[in-house]
Amino acid sequence: METRICDFPHCKDFNGNCSVPGQDGLPVQCVGSWAEDKYYFLEKYLNATCEVRRCFTDKGNAVFIDLFAGPGNCIIRSTQSEISGGGVRALNREQAPFNEYHFYDILKVNIEALQSRIGDNPHYCKIR
Ligand SMILES: C[S@@+](CC[C@H](N)C(=O)[O-])C[C@H]1O[C@@H](n2cnc3c(N)ncnc32)[C@H](O)[C@@H]1O
Repeated sequence: METRICDFPHCKDFNGNCSVPGQDGLPVQCVGSWAEDKYYFLEKYLNATCEVRRCFTDKGNAVFIDLFAGPGNCIIRSTQSEISGGGVRALNREQAPFNEYHFYDILKVNIEALQSRIGDNPHYCKIR
């Protein structure tokens, strides 16, 4: 297994992804521990808006959009732990799901990795 060294110039590949892939062999992005705070607040927001979202879900109008979706997993540099990104977290929630999920990324490798990580799921997803 390749050792991950999260500092310049080892960490980032030319496209912003880590030069060492994740556990599943797909691209990951190395991030600071602040990313855990970001996902904490994302999930807090998704929980807090469950009830109001239900009003829209019932009409088929609740849409989750991430215009900068990334490959779906990231590595916390300081702990080397691999965690799910925001889109995967939003998609895997059971409570008050969205009707549609739209994920975009400028990099084809990230779109392909996200597609693979999301796999088959019951929700309508557009990834491009
Ligand atoms: C910080 S990562 C995304 C993290 C993700 N939103 C999450 O919450 O887990 C930012 C992503 O934006 C993508 N990106 C940068 N510029 C872009 C652009 N102009 N259009 C679409 N994606 C872009 C990069 O390829 C990168 O994967």
